[in-house]
Amino acid sequence: MKPYVLLNSAMTVDGKIATESSAMKISGDADLIRVHKLRKDFDGIMVGINTVIIDNPKLTVHKIDAKKEDNPVRIIIDSRARTPLDSLVLNDAAETVIVVSERASKENVNKLSEKCNVIICGESHVNLKEALSKLYDLGIKSILLEGGSTLNFSMFKDKLIDEVSICIGSKILGGTHSKTFVDGKGFKISECINLELKKIEKIDKNDVVLTYTTNY
Ligand SMILES: NC(=O)c1ccc[n+]([C@@H]2O[C@H](COP(=O)([O-])OP(=O)(O)OC[C@H]3O[C@@H](n4cnc5c(N)ncnc54)[C@H](OP(=O)(O)O)[C@@H]3O)[C@@H](O)[C@H]2O)c1
Repeated sequence: MKPYVLLNSAMTVDGKIATESSAMKISGDADLIRVHKLRKDFDGIMVGINTVIIDNPKLTVHKIDAKKEDNPVRIIIDSRARTPLDSLVLNDAAETVIVVSERASKENVNKLSEKCNVIICGESHVNLKEALSKLYDLGIKSILLEGGSTLNFSMFKDKLIDEVSICIGSKILGGTHSKTFVDGKGFKISECINLELKKIEKIDKNDVVLTYTTNY
């Protein structure tokens, strides 16, 4: 069994979610509130290790009224156990699970284990199917996936995403090295993911949120 997964992101009109090396505010305040309401509804919130290293996010519900118990479990996909020990995701605001692979150094795993739950799935990279199955067994029945581009690709590739909500912020970023909504190796045309449009919502003055289900 696997948790239900909603991929949520904000991208510019030209499909970028960040510059090559830093985060940027893409959508407006109403979208941030929408995302924090979503976070409150999910058991877990998942990101890739690069997002932790680049953005140092809290991954908690803090833009709306919330209690500590409203915070989802923070899940970091981190094959080599590189999560910095002073990352905000390791503070005591919420529980954290770091998913590593067998190639993670024992030393790093031991240090991280003092601060959070560390689980091992996969040999060189995190085996995402196995990870989701283990997370389900830990009681995490729903996950809000919040990127970045590389993890988004792998999660689509393994057909683990059930629903997508994407806020298109009224900006153009450009740049061949900027991160896009889904990067990774990309799909062959015959293998691209088909989506079914469920909802179109105007938000803030100039942004729009599109909601899709996946159709594998
Ligand atoms: N606008 C938005 O909504 C939004 C949201 C989130 C992030 N972002 C941006 O996205 C950027 C980061 O994206 P990113 O693509 O560089 O990194 P990422 O997706 O956050 O993390 C990717 C890393 O996860 C690890 N990983 C382990 N197992 C994996 C697997 N099976 N599949 C995929 N990844 C796996 C890999 O590193 P190891 O091999 O070391 O494990 C991989 O390099 C940041 O700049 C951030 O600001 C934007």
